[in-house]
Amino acid sequence: MVERAPAKINLDLRILSREPDGYHRLETLFQALELHDVVEARPADALALEVEGDVDTGPAQDNLVLRAARAFLAAAPDAGPARLRLVKRIPAGAGLGGGSSDAAATLRALDALAGEPLGPQALREIGARLGSDVPFFLCGSPLARAQGRGERLTPLLPLPSAAVLVVDPGFPIATRDAFGWWDEHVAASGGRHATPEPGRDDAPGTGPHDFEALAAYARNDFEPPVFARHPSLAALKRHLLDAGATLSLLSGSGSCVWAVFRDDDRAAAAGARAGDLLPGARVLLTRSAE
Ligand code: C5P
Repeated sequence: MVERAPAKINLDLRILSREPDGYHRLETLFQALELHDVVEARPADALALEVEGDVDTGPAQDNLVLRAARAFLAAAPDAGPARLRLVKRIPAGAGLGGGSSDAAATLRALDALAGEPLGPQALREIGARLGSDVPFFLCGSPLARAQGRGERLTPLLPLPSAAVLVVDPGFPIATRDAFGWWDEHVAASGGRHATPEPGRDDAPGTGPHDFEALAAYARNDFEPPVFARHPSLAALKRHLLDAGATLSLLSGSGSCVWAVFRDDDRAAAAGARAGDLLPGARVLLTRSAE
């Protein structure tokens, strides 16, 4: 069984509040990319994972793929163990949802391999316990609005595919740290948090019509606290906008910055200069999924 595990970017991200349990309530627009990892599952005597690719994902036994597989086998005890192979292309710690997408692809692959003993709804419930971004990768739509911690999803009409440049600065940012920086940022501004409500120019169940319309209101609330610690990311975003991007934002809690361009040539030219600006950066040219 072979499953694609796409990356995501957040086209808009508002942090609405910090809840008493320490988690944050947010509202975001998830957009899947063509950039993807691959998860393969085949029946075996014991659960095992082999990771390929030039992305550092840490020790295999801590990989979210294995945590997803163990959660699946606990919920579907009659399904036999599997040998898993992960082909890794999505940068880790980058705000692209790679680990979450790998976990979602693992759940789909194992359920398919076992004759679908659980089905989509049960997979989404397991996925939400593995990580806040996992349910999006199980919702079956390339564009969705997410609320709560990210588990309340509204699939939206896909946007036409566009060229997306993703710049990985070469260092990761842990999601937990970025939420902590946001908390400090809000405390430093006297506890007042002034994120405006998300753009509501669209009818219920529909989303933005195109990236130009989105550019008028899109924002990512992680940018002020993350850019304050990593000014090179703010400079990178400025460069991408100066190079003609329709829209550019930090991806999720970072560390990648992405930009949408009207055509591939302009995106490639901006990418070449981004590499000069930030030594150690990796530039990936992909498209939004539709
Ligand atoms: O859910 P996930 O494991 O991806 O989250 C990683 C960390 O990010 C959590 O442990 C929590 O500290 C923080 N987080 C948060 N609010 C969210 C999602 C994540 O504070 N909505």
